[in-house]
Parts: sequence; structure tokens; C-alpha cells
Amino acid sequence: MRTFINVEDIGPLEKALVEAQEIKNDRFMYQHLGKNKTLMMIFFNNSLRTRLSTQKAAMNLGMNVIVLDVNAGAWKLETERGVIMDGDKSEHLLEAIPVMGCYCDMIGVRSFAGLTDREYDYAETVLNQFIKYSGKPVFAMETATVHPLQAFADLITIEEYSQTLRAKSQKPKVVLSWAPHCRALPQAVPNSFAQWMNAADVDFVITHPEGYELDPKFVGNARVEYDQKKAFEGADFIYAKNWSNPGVTNPADYGKITSKDMSWTVDTEHMSWTNNGKFMHCLPVRRNLIVTDDVIESPNSIVIPEAANREISCSVVIKRMLEAL
Ligand code: CP
Repeated sequence: MRTFINVEDIGPLEKALVEAQEIKNDRFMYQHLGKNKTLMMIFFNNSLRTRLSTQKAAMNLGMNVIVLDVNAGAWKLETERGVIMDGDKSEHLLEAIPVMGCYCDMIGVRSFAGLTDREYDYAETVLNQFIKYSGKPVFAMETATVHPLQAFADLITIEEYSQTLRAKSQKPKVVLSWAPHCRALPQAVPNSFAQWMNAADVDFVITHPEGYELDPKFVGNARVEYDQKKAFEGADFIYAKNWSNPGVTNPADYGKITSKDMSWTVDTEHMSWTNNGKFMHCLPVRRNLIVTDDVIESPNSIVIPEAANREISCSVVIKRMLEAL
């Protein structure tokens, strides 16, 4: 595997899930693969889970790890061609990327959406420059439009908590629900979650206020239900997430907050509509905007095991990349 961006990159999901459980049972079983190999993690934005879980996964696999926070200690980077660089940006990404590639065997990139230019964000300009110019395998650690390490961890978690249903040959009902937020957030997490759930063996429903339609290439054949209560009925998993307006129905709305409807906050009444459903969120989460204290603290909240599985999803991805070096 040379890139990890979309669900197709991981191949058959059943095989990836078996590999995830194998690694979870013995996190160090592939430690020999990373000997004398170096992972470089590049952060254009803040992170807690991705930073820690990716570093841990790489260390489990025997790798050395270099972390670069571009906005803290590196030269400020220009990303556009044709710009007269007479401002505060001292180095161009087109030199910086091949230089970074000289010092490592594999690169993880976190590069958030600017949320002002939909075309630019959805072209994944920064990520694609790393793929083109680094000469090294590249994986997304949340980019402008996708967060596949999170979605893979979410799938592992859903499968772990679906064993009773699977034993009865039943599919879990999984609901992705928009929830309100005070800041404009990217669509990367819901995009990838939708993409991975569409590929998985689950009954998948997306619910959000009208106007918040995700990009059709991620929605695929998922059922979209604008009535949140109807969507929640009988759900086994509620995956709450805010996203800013994707600009699908009205391009001028791209990246804006066009709803702050607090009736979408997931509270105990919302969870009572479900089939004793589990509550999921990728974290970090703003309590009492996205979800109430009592729901996230309830026994049905699985946000911590979900975060723990970030180490596992990343271990599978790095292992696959090491095997292909
Ligand atoms: N869920 C997630 O990616 O968290 P961080 O932004 O803290 O890495």
C-alpha cells in the first residue's frame, strides 16, 4: 500500500478487520517490520488522538518517529505556485516536501480544510503534493476532506460491539447525525465515516438539517433522513458529529454555519428513540452542544474504546505500508 486515503486503499474490509483483531491481541507481533525505518508525521493543525495513536502504532511496529508541527518551529510554508513570496512564508512546500522525504520512509499528513474555497479543499492540494513530491508512501492523518484512520477505527469499534447481532445474522443500524457547534468544522470525519459505512455490512442512515447534504461521492447509496427522530428509531449506533455546510445545495454556503439548531444535540431523549444504541464521537467533543454530559458519561457511550482503536487502525495501515516498502 503506497497511499491510505480512501476505503478502497485498504482492500477487503473483512480481511482488514481480521488483521486489526490479530494486532489488537498482540500489538508487537510485527515489531520486526519497522526496524531502522522512520515515520515522519507532519501536522498543519492541532491533534491529540492522531498524534499519540499514530506514534504509538509506529513504535509498536518498531519504527523511529519524527514529528513536525509546521506552525510551531518550522519555516512558514507557502502552498500555492506563482505567489511572489515577499510575505511571512519563507519556504515553499515544493522544496520542503522532497526534503522531508529524504529523512524518512513513510509520511503521515494532517492538513485541514480552509473552508473558504470548496474546489481547493476538495482537490486535496496539500495531500496530493506530498504524494507527488515526497517519493514516499503517504497516509492521511485527517486532511481537507477525509479522515480514514478515524473511520477505520470506528468500523473496528462497531464490529466489536455488534457481535450479538452478528451471531443472529443481523446487521447493526448505524446513524450518522449532524449536531450543532459554535465553530465551522470540516466535513472530513463525516465524509470518511459515510464512505466506510457504505462499504461495510451495516444498515446506514445519515441525518442532518436540510441544506447540510454531504458530497454525493461520500453519501453514495446511504439513506438520508431529515427527521432526526425517524433516523434514530431502532438505531444500534449513533455517531454524532458537527460539520459546516458542505456547499452542495448552495455553493455560497460552503464552510459556513447555516444552522445552530440545538434540538439536534444528542440527549437522553434522543437516545431513548434508539435500540439501546451506543453513542460514538471521534473526539474532541464540545459537551452540551454535540452531546449532553449524561449521554457521553452513560454506559452506552463508547467514545473511549473508539479512541483506543485509533492505535489499532493505524497499526494495520502502517504495517501494510511497511510490507510494501
Ligand atoms: N479524532 C481525532 O482525529 O482527534 P485529534 O484531532 O485529537 O487527532
